[in-house]
Amino acid sequence: MVKKIGIDLGYANIAVCDVTQDVFREPSVALIHKNSRAGEPRIISIGNEAFGGGQGATAEGMLVRPFKNGMFFDHQITEEVITRVIAAHKGGADKLRCVIGVPSDILTKQEKDLFSMLQNAGATTSYSVVRPVAALIGAGYSPNMSVISVNIGAMSTEIAVMHGGKAVFLSRTEIGGEDFDKAVRQFVLEQGDVNISLSVARAIKERLGAVWKGRPNDSIDIEGTLALTGNRLKMNVSTEDIVGVFEKPMQELIYAIINAVKKVPLEAVEAVFENGIVLTGGGAELYGIDILLARVLGISVTKPQTPIDCVARGLARINAFVSGKTRGGSKNITDQLARLYNESRK
Ligand SMILES: Nc1ncnc2c1ncn2[C@@H]1O[C@H](COP(=O)(O)OP(=O)(O)O)[C@@H](O)[C@H]1O
Ligand SMILES: [Mg+2]
Repeated sequence: MVKKIGIDLGYANIAVCDVTQDVFREPSVALIHKNSRAGEPRIISIGNEAFGGGQGATAEGMLVRPFKNGMFFDHQITEEVITRVIAAHKGGADKLRCVIGVPSDILTKQEKDLFSMLQNAGATTSYSVVRPVAALIGAGYSPNMSVISVNIGAMSTEIAVMHGGKAVFLSRTEIGGEDFDKAVRQFVLEQGDVNISLSVARAIKERLGAVWKGRPNDSIDIEGTLALTGNRLKMNVSTEDIVGVFEKPMQELIYAIINAVKKVPLEAVEAVFENGIVLTGGGAELYGIDILLARVLGISVTKPQTPIDCVARGLARINAFVSGKTRGGSKNITDQLARLYNESRK
């Protein structure tokens, strides 16, 4: 039996999806040995187990984000995480075919390394597809649609302009959900002389944050430390307290999208603007972001259901429509998606 999965190794989340479209998502963290010797495994655990599970950071372990800079920052850690992810999802299948999401600016060498890591981990065949294109498929679009895909991750935003079955423009900009967290942290420091952690800032953003009016007022209790004395302090933050806090990261995001819009080839303008922007990634969950972007850019903006899972869903869907006819594994099939999709529907 061949098992087919889609894998998205993000900065914030590792998401794996099978052909039934069930997404298994866990935090992208690894607990690594503080003092491992060369040649020894460095990872103690990953994901939920590393993050929570009562274990957390321990005397011998520290938590790291394994996928920085788009994808890699440490070869060995990447390899060990991939091995664990594949082992957890291969189950009893004798063959495993993976479609993995990659940043559009991945280097050829990195992509080759990635394929060999997947193979060593037990994948029989692997293909890669750039994330913003996979996200569109996951949102239910065909690769033949003319549309702008904007995928907002935690550290970067990836954009694809699709036309004529091809990505006619691709970009990755270093602005993402974490910049919104930093804006919250900075705001709380400036307004209240209180230091809060990035994870508290993220909770405030997710629970209370909005970039358009209409979010019902709510509040949460948080903990921080007084900047002046370092004393711990509990406080309550409400939706109204943080109005306007996302001005700066929002501007940067808008510029990144405007840059992409400017690159739409003239013959594609009519078709692309007809369908507008499809907003995916965890960053798309921010309250009102679709409305704000539509108003500022004058383009229709669609936010699909659970945008945070669209990349993984798309990768699994692609895996289902890629027939056995694609000769040889280990290649980037982004440019062939439309053809493969059309052939699968004959
Ligand atoms: N409800 C929400 N409101 C605002 N931001 C959210 C929400 N849910 C998740 N996010 C943000 O989405 C980002 C993670 O999205 P994800 O696509 O998984 O990132 P990555 O692909 O980089 O791992 C984080 O910055 C997180 O704070
Ligand atoms: Mg993502």
